Amino acid sequence: MVARISTVAFQGFRAQIVDVQVQVSAQMPAFTIVGLPDKAVAESRERVRAALDAIGLGLPPKRITVNLSPADLPKEGSHYDLPIALALLAAVGVLPAEDMAGHIALGELALDGQIAAVAGVLPAGVAAAERDQGLICPALCGGEAAWAGDLEIIAAPDLLAIVNHFKGTQVLSAPEPGPVDMDAIGADLRDVKGQESAKRALEIAAAGGHNLLMLGPPGSGKSMLAARLPGLLPPLSPAEALEVSMIRSLAGELTEGRLSRRRPFRNPHHSTSTPALVGGGLKVRPGEISLAHRGVLFLDELPEFPRPALEALRQPLETAEAVVARANAHVTYPARVQLVAAMNPCRCGHLDDPE
Ligand SMILES: Nc1ncnc2c1ncn2[C@@H]1O[C@H](COP(=O)(O)OP(=O)(O)O)[C@@H](O)[C@H]1O
Ligand SMILES: [Mg+2]
Repeated sequence: MVARISTVAFQGFRAQIVDVQVQVSAQMPAFTIVGLPDKAVAESRERVRAALDAIGLGLPPKRITVNLSPADLPKEGSHYDLPIALALLAAVGVLPAEDMAGHIALGELALDGQIAAVAGVLPAGVAAAERDQGLICPALCGGEAAWAGDLEIIAAPDLLAIVNHFKGTQVLSAPEPGPVDMDAIGADLRDVKGQESAKRALEIAAAGGHNLLMLGPPGSGKSMLAARLPGLLPPLSPAEALEVSMIRSLAGELTEGRLSRRRPFRNPHHSTSTPALVGGGLKVRPGEISLAHRGVLFLDELPEFPRPALEALRQPLETAEAVVARANAHVTYPARVQLVAAMNPCRCGHLDDPE
């Protein structure tokens, strides 16, 4: 018999549904995962085996085949542990197979059966809500999942809690959405003394959503002014806040399901690598420009940034989207930012300084 459950693969901003199929057959004992798993997914065998042992449900001495479909889509990350374990439990009859088929699950298993937090629970929740499916996720991510809308959420601390929930012996209550940071604006423009024309320029940039370049000697308040721009901008609308939080969730930066209506302000250091700036890397993650989506990207000491990094920012600034080209797919993240840059007039910073 083949048991199924859904999970997600993150293709940029979109969560793509992955079907996890488990077949247990009476052949030589083996445990294989197919469907382009990366190293972390292949290692999930060991975690699933240990976690099932820990809750007293060792693997049957049979041939276990796990297929992650679509088979040609590369699967990255450790969040496949939980769906694999749940589909396996359904295949051996511990969990009801028809219930499992209606859920999207993601989570990383510890060897003792605990479920560790993973990135991307909010986009997975949104995908589940769109498809009218339930979501099974780590308890630590429950507050984040609850923002996804009106759907059934099972946020469990460990594997045993999920088994007990479906048996009806100990039903898990639905998680509450995490808190919303409403408190406005840390820094205020009133702290800046003088610099009237710079302040005026900042206000005009805020009103019109313009990009801004500040040029001046060190200590003249450029960084100070830039940090005050998000405070001049209106708070994020609820839809924008959700969108910004989905990007932060993908980057694993959304803690305790805490949403914020404050506009993002990112100031990457000039030594930041190009993939960290525009997205990409071995395991594709949104870059600083996407984490600044609907907010401010501040590049301090602009000329110190390596040229390839600045060139890579060109296209996302024009199209408001960061496209990461991978061997077999293009991955897109939203990147609508207001760029603020600051620089000294020369290397020492005191060109034309009267003193
Ligand atoms: N116009 C100003 N009003 C009040 N404080 C200022 C002003 N300009 C500079 N400062 C002080 O000097 C510090 C350094 O300023 P900073 O913004 O880092 O300058 P820059 O980025 O131009 O080198 C600030 O933290 C602030 O305490
Ligand atoms: Mg500065």
